[in-house]
Amino acid sequence: MGAETQTTDSRTDGAGARDTLSVTDNRTGRTYELPIVDGTVRGLDLRQIKVSDDDFGLMSYDPGYANVASCRSAVTYLDGEAGILQYRGYPIEQLAERSTYLEVAYLLIHGELPTTVQLEEWRHEITIHTFVHENVKDFMQGFWHDAHPMGMLLGSVGALSTFYPDANEIGDPENRYMQTIRLIAKMPTLAAFAFRHIKGQPYVYPDNDLNYAGNFLSLMYKMTELKYEPDPRLERALDVLFILHADHEQNCSTSAVRGVGSSRVDPYSAVAAGVAALYGPLHGGANEAVLRMLKRIERKENIPDFLKGVEEGKERLMGFGHRVYKNFDPRATIIKAAAEDVFEVTGARNPLLDVALELEKIALGDEYFIAHKLYPNVDFYSGLIYEALGLPVEMFPVMFAIGRTSGWIANWLEQVQDPEQRIARPRQIYTGDRDREYVAIEQRG
Ligand code: ACO
Repeated sequence: MGAETQTTDSRTDGAGARDTLSVTDNRTGRTYELPIVDGTVRGLDLRQIKVSDDDFGLMSYDPGYANVASCRSAVTYLDGEAGILQYRGYPIEQLAERSTYLEVAYLLIHGELPTTVQLEEWRHEITIHTFVHENVKDFMQGFWHDAHPMGMLLGSVGALSTFYPDANEIGDPENRYMQTIRLIAKMPTLAAFAFRHIKGQPYVYPDNDLNYAGNFLSLMYKMTELKYEPDPRLERALDVLFILHADHEQNCSTSAVRGVGSSRVDPYSAVAAGVAALYGPLHGGANEAVLRMLKRIERKENIPDFLKGVEEGKERLMGFGHRVYKNFDPRATIIKAAAEDVFEVTGARNPLLDVALELEKIALGDEYFIAHKLYPNVDFYSGLIYEALGLPVEMFPVMFAIGRTSGWIANWLEQVQDPEQRIARPRQIYTGDRDREYVAIEQRG
């Protein structure tokens, strides 16, 4: 078959260069010209590449979506090679230093930093929606005393959809806004109820006089005192952690929110999918896994043996490595400094911090980690802070989920208003048998 060119589109610049990709299918000798837009080719443009008329057409195979852009997004910019993270264009370092979590949540949702009046309105709206229906306490009670709080959060945030059945009217902007407020406001309440449940302590109601992080500390730790007064330094450290976790473009949990949200389900169900994805040890569960790992290593002297196990493929150094960051994770740098601040307040310096620091030092100079471009990620130090705040390890991914809620919703809002988005439905390469004849049970070997 002779070579032929099928041009679907082409744009030329003054020098005659075209924003297209020429692909020759060596099975047929045909050449195709595919448009390149925003540094991508359309997956569906490959479909025209066929060996025969009844051929389905070429697909791309990419387990783990390592090189697939699934959406256009204006929420978070990430350059993994340069270690840059920006929310709506603002560098994470500036936001962590100068902003608050609620302001960052506003920024992620609305796209702009708020004015004083807008911020006050936003803060007020979130604050007056922190309570949950009394029945939530009842079903929380149904969990076993040793239930994982992330499982409780996953179940209870999904259950909120039953309290707000109109939340499925996702085409209505006012309705979407109401659920946005509710989700950001109620997540800390659900998380703290889960914590109280595993501790066997009574649930505490939100304190609307406190700020977002202060209220969360009160929900968690208030006992018999009439008014819980959070330490402003811990409040600030927690707020910074929420800011750092607020969004991270198309990570596993955000993709889960978008994937499930693409079916046009209500946002509580979509966010429950995000919590589920975050639960896993390769994602938000990594902070929990890091602390368990540090406890297992126990002393600096045990580090070389542990790292040998990693290099031999018997272990994984949790809190290291990232699909996107290949030089450093800017969030890890900020968290490392915040950990020192928290230890100053809580007094006792966690000896595991020294193990972590030494582990980082040795790993960063080790050939295996250099060759694999493995650096500490956001979760390497966050667990140590959470532990200093008196949280059990099971609560670590829950803390992550509180911060990430604003990012999940910002992505969900963007998706439901994006005319290009369709239901998420990847293809597969079928590897099983075909056309088998049903065998009666008595005739099966
Ligand atoms: N320890 C040891 N080796 C590692 C690690 C690690 N933490 N991470 C990656 N590698 C190695 C892999 O074994 C693989 O080696 P090979 O090429 O010789 O087979 C290579 O580096 C590439 O690793 P992948 O797993 O293919 O990288 P991927 O991009 O798929 O995974 C991930 C990224 C999941 C974050 C991985 O680095 C990991 O498991 N890290 C530990 C868990 C963790 O800290 N997760 C939190 C991530 S941050 C977040 O979600 C908030």
